[in-house]
Amino acid sequence: MILRDAIHTRRAVRRFRPEPVPRETLLDLLDLANRAPSSFNLQPWHFVVVDASEQKKKLRRLALDQAHVEAAGAVVIFCADPAAWREHLKPTERQAMNSGVFGLEYAGRRSRYIRLYFDGGPLGLLGVLKLVGSSLVRLFRPLPHLPVLQRKRRALVREEVMLAVAQFMLAARTSGLDTCPVGAFDGGRIKRAFGIPRRMEVVLLVPVGYALEPDAQRQPRLPLAEKVHWNGWSVVEGRGEPRVSYDRHARIGGGQKERGRARR
Ligand SMILES: Cc1cc2nc3c(=O)[nH]c(=O)nc-3n(C[C@H](O)[C@H](O)[C@H](O)COP(=O)(O)O)c2cc1C
Repeated sequence: MILRDAIHTRRAVRRFRPEPVPRETLLDLLDLANRAPSSFNLQPWHFVVVDASEQKKKLRRLALDQAHVEAAGAVVIFCADPAAWREHLKPTERQAMNSGVFGLEYAGRRSRYIRLYFDGGPLGLLGVLKLVGSSLVRLFRPLPHLPVLQRKRRALVREEVMLAVAQFMLAARTSGLDTCPVGAFDGGRIKRAFGIPRRMEVVLLVPVGYALEPDAQRQPRLPLAEKVHWNGWSVVEGRGEPRVSYDRHARIGGGQKERGRARR
């Protein structure tokens, strides 16, 4: 199955055949997930695979008793490590240098950027200083927001892990398997029950298995025309304001002044 078909046929499946998923298959899918992009290639993810019946039952209880968590052949607990910028800095640097992806000079620069970008220092005090400094700089030139506070680092690694999740779900589809992203769970209890280190974020559970009804209907999506904005934000007739039709917008070819700026 090619990627386009995988995208078209993926759906959140909640009824599975009681069949295990071979571990080699799971490893193959996780290898594809592991190839997701991440900032500075820091790869802030961990995959906890739950395929034993008792453990799946336990996980189901911690996920609002959702039956598909237990029914699937396996469930992957996708975790994000907010400390990956520190823990993975050197291993990823060594690997890239050994395979000739970059040299010593770039490695030094990368390391400085990573520390500048993520390091909040003891008690986050350096982070607060960086935030004040970067806000001042931003008055004069464009500057991204630095994830120096723990809250921001957590949000960033969650986003990155979601990219791995998407790859995993589509890869599963290409292997004739189905998945369901599950976000309703008690992350703290899952960490304690499965021995996941406290600093990790439990991002998503993904039950994976063989669908009971492989040809079930798929959920529709809102029209693409309402979602695509060429050369700046535009609002479609009948939704929000100002009222500018998508067709007119397309004809104008993205003239910002004629369209006006919509509220976010
Ligand atoms: C972040 C996230 C959390 C979700 N949490 C749950 C969940 O707890 N239980 C569930 O059955 N489905 C969950 N879903 C699945 C959505 O309900 C589903 O993807 C959506 O209705 C679209 O349907 P489709 O995936 O079949 O296209 C979640 C999806 C996402 C992306």
